[in-house]
Formats: sequence, C-alpha cells, structure tokens
Amino acid sequence: MYADIHSHFVYGVDDGCKDREAMEKLLAALQQDGITRLISTAHITPGQRHFPMEDYQAHFREAEEIIRERGWDLSVYTGHEILYTDAAPRYLREGKALPLANGEFTLVEFMPGEKYERLQEAAQKLRNAGFIPVFAHIERYEAMNSIKHVRQMRHEFGVRIQVNCHTFADRQPFLRRRWLGQLIREELLDYVSTDTHDMPGRDPCMEKCHQTLEREFGPEAADALCWYDAQELFENT
Ligand SMILES: [Fe+2]
Repeated sequence: MYADIHSHFVYGVDDGCKDREAMEKLLAALQQDGITRLISTAHITPGQRHFPMEDYQAHFREAEEIIRERGWDLSVYTGHEILYTDAAPRYLREGKALPLANGEFTLVEFMPGEKYERLQEAAQKLRNAGFIPVFAHIERYEAMNSIKHVRQMRHEFGVRIQVNCHTFADRQPFLRRRWLGQLIREELLDYVSTDTHDMPGRDPCMEKCHQTLEREFGPEAADALCWYDAQELFENT
C-alpha cells in the first residue's frame, strides 16, 4: 500500500500522458506497483502559460471512470505541480492552481539552478497565502545540495521535502548517496513519489524504491516515506 503524491497521468494537459489509452496503461502500471492513493500533479506555470483547466477536469473524471470500471483499489485526487512564479500564490488563492488533494499543501518546482534566496521567498509567500509548500524532487536543485538549506526549509519554513523514487531505486554516485542518507537519518525527507510520465525512464518504481529504502534504512523509514508521512495530505478528503 503506497501513496504517490506526484504523477502526470491525466492526459493531454502537459508532458505526461498523450491520450486516454496511455493514461489507462499508466494507471494500470501504478496500481500494479502497489499504489492505492494517487495525486495527479499536472504542470502549471502561473501567469506565463495557459493551463487547460476544463480538459484537465474532464480527463481526471475519465481516470476515475476507468478505475471504477476496472475495480481497482486506487483513489485519485487532483492537484498541480507549480513551476514557481510571482503569480503562484494568487493562482492558488483564486483556485486557478490546484493544491494537493484539495487541501492546504501545494507541490512546487523550480529551475535546477534557482538561487536559494528565491526558494526562501517562494516558501514564505506560499505560507503567507495559507499554503504549505511541498518542494518537488529536491535532488534536482543546486541550492538543495546544501543540507543546511534543506534543514532550514524543513524546520524554519515547514516546507515538505519530496524526492523521486528513481533517485533511490537507481544507482547513484557516492556523494549523492551520502546526501540521501543524511536526509533520511535527520528526518528531513517527507515523501518519495513516482513523478511518472508516459515516457521511458519515468515509469512507476515505488515497490523497487520501497525495497531499497527498507534494505538501507529499515522498514519503518521505508513505510513512512512511501505511505504514512503522506497521509497528512489527505485530511480534507
Ligand atoms: Fe513532475
């Protein structure tokens, strides 16, 4: 039983699934991988690129239909992965960008080279707007290579920290492995997620990730990162 809070299965709205058939295949793979709670996090860039909200809602309902027809034990929830812009807090407040599972958490991403000051500003502004930011795949950001920065984000700003499953499931260089170990031992990491797109190398690997975590950090850490910690996101559902 796993929770996946970051996924691009809703078709025709971003670089995730292209059509209904691809979505159906990806949903099948996700539920086969043991996922029972799944948040759709379509890419949105507030104020810079139009997002087809009506298509998104319609295609999300199609996903719900497919799941019902197939009888899968899988609950799906709406959301966005927001590429942070100055307009992001306003978009969330006005309902033009969707928080995770209709709650108070919001998945945010940045360009890989974004300055730490900009990450701090984003965290502060999103908190001021009444949302708790979840930083998506922090392994991609240079500013988050510093464990001191991750600590400050997690403890001072209350930001939740997400890393992609593949980062644990695939082989990593020594320094990267050391950084990941530190995140877990200091309890800085909140969730691992698939970030699945319908493309090679972006397939679901939650089960493999859970096995790796269990072997390296023990069953409690593995279960917390793949299921328990994410339950706070579903309190409104
Ligand atoms: Fe993503």
